[in-house]
Amino acid sequence: MEFENRIRRKKNKEKIVMLTAYDFQMAKILDSVGIDMILVGDSLGMVFQGFRDTRSVTIEDMIYHTKAVARGAAITPIIGDMPVCSDRSIELALRNSSRLLEAGAKGVKIEGHKREIIQRLVEEGIPVMGHLGLLPQTANVYKVQGKDPKEAQQIFQDALNLDQYGVFSIILECVPESLAEKITKAVRVPTIGIGAGKHCDGQVLVVNDMLGLLEGFKPKYLKRYLCLNKLIKKAIETFAEDVRSEKYPDEEHTYH
Ligand code: KIV
Repeated sequence: MEFENRIRRKKNKEKIVMLTAYDFQMAKILDSVGIDMILVGDSLGMVFQGFRDTRSVTIEDMIYHTKAVARGAAITPIIGDMPVCSDRSIELALRNSSRLLEAGAKGVKIEGHKREIIQRLVEEGIPVMGHLGLLPQTANVYKVQGKDPKEAQQIFQDALNLDQYGVFSIILECVPESLAEKITKAVRVPTIGIGAGKHCDGQVLVVNDMLGLLEGFKPKYLKRYLCLNKLIKKAIETFAEDVRSEKYPDEEHTYH
């Protein structure tokens, strides 16, 4: 069965698990655990490249990271994010999404309500994941979206439309739980939440965030499953101490 149909069929049956990855080693770990999808998100602009937002990420960056992830993900389907401006026209969106598929993605994610682009990609047989709510490619401030009834209605309508355009799932980022629940009940495809509460059909997190790699980054929705930052610092401090005190390299780690 095509991967997007497997994802669609999970709605109302089994929660969907998705995490981001940007490199080979992390992809290999995720692949060995068994999750439903790996997202090569343009969040790499912040997480990997250290920019303040995702707006400097290029399609070349996305292709580079998608290829690295594809080398590690033997079985898990990869979704490649279409970065800002990569879908400025239908032709460009077609070319760039095909390049992500060639790099190893099984589908692409498009941020926002872009009717013509999404319809055309779907017509061409490209699996498209939608993304509504907080849209980092265009947002001025990162905050919960759809608290105001008019805004909530717009997001709801956009979700119904994306469903009609043929996306195979919809990311809902930072919206109130009640809105995510209403959308999840109304659309045919699975919703995947990040900061959208428990009623979504699945959940996605940025893997570095849930592993606690960046000290101090803790939005309300984020559950940290590890505090990798502290563990890594501890290991590096021990290494530095060992080198300075000539404890390392010892016999065990020396060639003769
Ligand atoms: O770029 C990304 O990682 C994303 C997720 C936060 C959904 O869009």
